[in-house]
Amino acid sequence: MKSPTPGESVAKGFAFSSIFWLIIGLVVGLYLALEMFLPQLNFAPWIAFGRLRVVHTNGLAFGFGLGGIFACSYYMLEKLTRKELVFPKLAKFHLYLFNVAILLAAISLFAGMNTSKEYAELEWPLDVVVVIMWVIFAVNVFATLIKRREKQMYISLWYILAMTVTVAILYIVNNLEVPVNLFKSYSAYAGVNDANVQWWYGHNAVGFVFTVPILAMFYYFFPKSIGIPIYSHRLSIVSFWSLVFAYLWTGAHHLMLTPLPEWIQTVGLAFSIFLIAPSWGSVINGYYTLRGNWDKMRTNYLTKFFILGITFYGLQTIQGPTQALRSLTSFFHYTDWVVGHVHMGTMGWVTMTIMASFYYLIPKLAGRELYSEKLANQSFWLVLIGQLLYTVTMWIAGIMQGAMWKATNPDGSLTYSFVNVVAAMYPYWKIRFVGGVVYLAGILVFLYNMVKTASSGSQAA
Ligand code: HEM
Ligand code: HEM
Repeated sequence: MKSPTPGESVAKGFAFSSIFWLIIGLVVGLYLALEMFLPQLNFAPWIAFGRLRVVHTNGLAFGFGLGGIFACSYYMLEKLTRKELVFPKLAKFHLYLFNVAILLAAISLFAGMNTSKEYAELEWPLDVVVVIMWVIFAVNVFATLIKRREKQMYISLWYILAMTVTVAILYIVNNLEVPVNLFKSYSAYAGVNDANVQWWYGHNAVGFVFTVPILAMFYYFFPKSIGIPIYSHRLSIVSFWSLVFAYLWTGAHHLMLTPLPEWIQTVGLAFSIFLIAPSWGSVINGYYTLRGNWDKMRTNYLTKFFILGITFYGLQTIQGPTQALRSLTSFFHYTDWVVGHVHMGTMGWVTMTIMASFYYLIPKLAGRELYSEKLANQSFWLVLIGQLLYTVTMWIAGIMQGAMWKATNPDGSLTYSFVNVVAAMYPYWKIRFVGGVVYLAGILVFLYNMVKTASSGSQAA
């Protein structure tokens, strides 16, 4: 076997780090799910719901999500530019720094250090580490792109570039803060401005972490896995520019019906509806790539992952814009419906696409055949069933919650107290826990398959 390129060896490190943080984040997620109907489990501050929730979200969005994104980005960067990474030592340092940063983030959040801005909870010393880490990544991305040997920039490179630039700007602007001591700071913004900047960042964390780089993976690994080029390069470019243009205006849909000026809410809403077009541009491109070859859903196990992944992305990008409408948000906001939306995106679209990319990538990096296709198929069904059980249950729970909160008696008083509604949610929260266990079982099967492939699968021909 030929010795790995710098991009390949660092990709392997990031891939296994990503799976490691995935398992940790999911175990914490399951504990959170239990705490919802067994409140006595909140028996110490370190494991109280409020602290664990941020360990779960940060561990999965940044440990699992970003770890997978870095793994695939380094790999795609080298392949698509036909150039090895310009700064291999920097990439290696990036891998170590990433794991140290996630570990310190988890410890500080467990300890209750929290800026209270969602998805930007880390205190300022860790923000500095995150910015250094991002600059290190950006240096390799730009240098390798500048020195590329392939003139044409394939669509995945555009998506990687957009993520690199945008996340840097979003993170720095939203995290401007005044430190009080090493462990505490206050936001540089106040009141409604703070909320506006926060959700401009928050929504684009979803957009430029859970969407843009995942699309980069989809556009690269899907055609590679099935051996068919993407249906339309032009459609992919048009979708790309309209998506990155529209995303940055939509953050205010998280603040509908709040003191934020109404015109800003309307701008957020209008761009959210507009987003359906570029999102579905990619969905249609994916479906058309398979035209005449739909039997691959049966014969090529990776096709199932990618097609189901992009289908959940399609559903997510219809559900998102509609739930931003004022009439619907007034019903669904604060309910479990939104938790269902989040987990269709993360457990469906993001997980399925990262898993599929790893199923393609890890055998290649290890120079071995996949250990077991049968296990890969089993992991697919477990993850799919677990996710559906979770999300569908949360949508039903959300509708019930919204309806109960708003129900009134003929004299205008509320029909149900808040505690009545919490009690009515218990059966749904129990089913959510079962869905999470099934999903985790799928992830453990995936982990086993990957470890076996890397350590003892048969050598690739
Ligand atoms: C066209 C694209 C999308 C639009 C317009 C959209 C819209 C929305 C809206 C309006 C909310 C707020 C609901 C509320 O609090 O009442 C929301 C929440 C959320 N969405 Fe989406 N969504 C889109 C795609 C996605 C995708 C692809 C993901 C990927 C996982 C995602 C993940 C999330 C998350 C994590 C939240 C929760 C944020 C929080 O309150 O902590 N969304 N989305
Ligand atoms: C075993 C699977 C999982 C379980 C049991 C689980 C459980 C939970 C629970 C109980 C919450 C809190 C909901 C609330 O506050 O009412 C939550 C929130 C969240 N989870 Fe998960 N989760 C799982 C998988 C994932 C994955 C794979 C990701 C990301 C890759 C993820 C990302 C999030 C995010 C972003 C939120 C915040 C949602 C919001 O603010 O609306 N979860 N999860």
